[in-house]
Amino acid sequence: MAKDIPDTATLSFGDKSINLPMSSPTLGPDVVDIRKLYAQGDVFTYDPGFTSTASCESAITYIDGDKGELLYRGYPIDQLAEKSSFLEVCYLLIYGELPSATELTDFTTRVTHHTMLHEQMTNFFRGFRRDAHPMAIVCGVVGAMSAFYHDSTDIYDPWQREVATIRLIAKLPTICAWAYKYHVGQPFIYPRNDLNYAENFIHMCFAVPATEFKVDPILSKAMDRIFTLHADHEQNASTSTVRLAGSSQANPFACIAAGVACLWGPAHGGANQACLEMLREIGTVDRIPEYIEKAKDKADPFRLMGFGHRVYKNFDPRANVMKESADEVLGLMGIEDNPTLQVAKELERIALQDAYFKEKKLYPNVDFYSGIILDAMGFPTSMFTPIFALARTAGWISQWKEMIADPSQKIGRPRQLYTGAPHRDYVPVSER
Ligand code: ACO
Repeated sequence: MAKDIPDTATLSFGDKSINLPMSSPTLGPDVVDIRKLYAQGDVFTYDPGFTSTASCESAITYIDGDKGELLYRGYPIDQLAEKSSFLEVCYLLIYGELPSATELTDFTTRVTHHTMLHEQMTNFFRGFRRDAHPMAIVCGVVGAMSAFYHDSTDIYDPWQREVATIRLIAKLPTICAWAYKYHVGQPFIYPRNDLNYAENFIHMCFAVPATEFKVDPILSKAMDRIFTLHADHEQNASTSTVRLAGSSQANPFACIAAGVACLWGPAHGGANQACLEMLREIGTVDRIPEYIEKAKDKADPFRLMGFGHRVYKNFDPRANVMKESADEVLGLMGIEDNPTLQVAKELERIALQDAYFKEKKLYPNVDFYSGIILDAMGFPTSMFTPIFALARTAGWISQWKEMIADPSQKIGRPRQLYTGAPHRDYVPVSER
């Protein structure tokens, strides 16, 4: 049933009164459309960090931060994590509906047959220093894809957009695995079409040519679930970066590279690496109170990594699934007494009882447990954020495609509240 909302909101200031149209979304708060505000009222709105600003219309992902709910195209994340697979989720995000069996087979075949990289790209990898962070390599190589795949850079051709989409989803595992292989000085392992998406990624990371490597199905299932949980998350910083880059009509590879760059920061995708490093630094359960106090001390820049979220003011639903996965994976590997997992669980328990965290509604986010699983699988911390980027590519490209097809799309160009010097005349250096 449609909500009963007023058609307009009235903004009054000075002797002006402006009526602004309102719209009602399928889910979430109503929206005041301020597009004509500057033309009619000669004022801007000021909203650093976009805390109250919708930058686009989107039908892909929905978050209810108070309830702790995340939906991909309407489907709850816990149902998808339990019952679906990452490639099916990719299809859902990109095309809007769950695929039929034939559609899924066709999509899987198309992705599987695009996993190889242009052979000349191996030279590009070799140009990096061995000690380069894998995120630096992934960011560079994804950006460089536009130099290798010219036939999918015309954003106005729907077929080229489709090919770029498949290429990005198919090649990101190869790029991330090769960034890792280069980093550790091992030969690149080529993708294999007899393995599924997650198996293939694990194989490209951990196999070596000298011996056979079998992917443990428990690990590939956990990997697939990690990909699903990270696939999309509404208009977060990196997705907004992809959209902003795309709004200038830049090619899809350049836009996704911009998303990778933004994801790298420790306040966003880099938090999984920072979180595991923090848990290791804490080391033992008895040191937790000391770190809780540091996190609460305003004079100390330390923050509890993996805690807090701009939108969730309740449990991050992905953190719950991730916690279950951590128990499952470590249990099945026979390392349930892993000290880092013990510290994480106790830290969560203490923080959730603490008045500071309760009052500020700070709960564990997706990154709190993901690092523990990835570490148990054998990934170094530097690979955590590339794995996040691999998964989020599905969301980025879906959002980019949605934006390109939106007739109301314009180049993104925020305004500012200028606080610099007013007009002044140049003074020659001899008179200064
Ligand atoms: N530890 C201690 N205090 C915190 C934390 C934390 N992890 N997060 C927020 N706070 C406090 C802030 O100091 C602030 O206190 P104040 O009101 O007294 O000034 C209050 O809670 C609100 O925090 P903001 O930083 O204003 O909230 P914002 O929405 O801007 O930040 C963010 C969200 C960046 C995720 C923040 O919670 C954080 O830095 N968390 C740690 C990093 C992290 O885990 N990032 C991953 C996010 S999920 C993702 O990107 C996949």
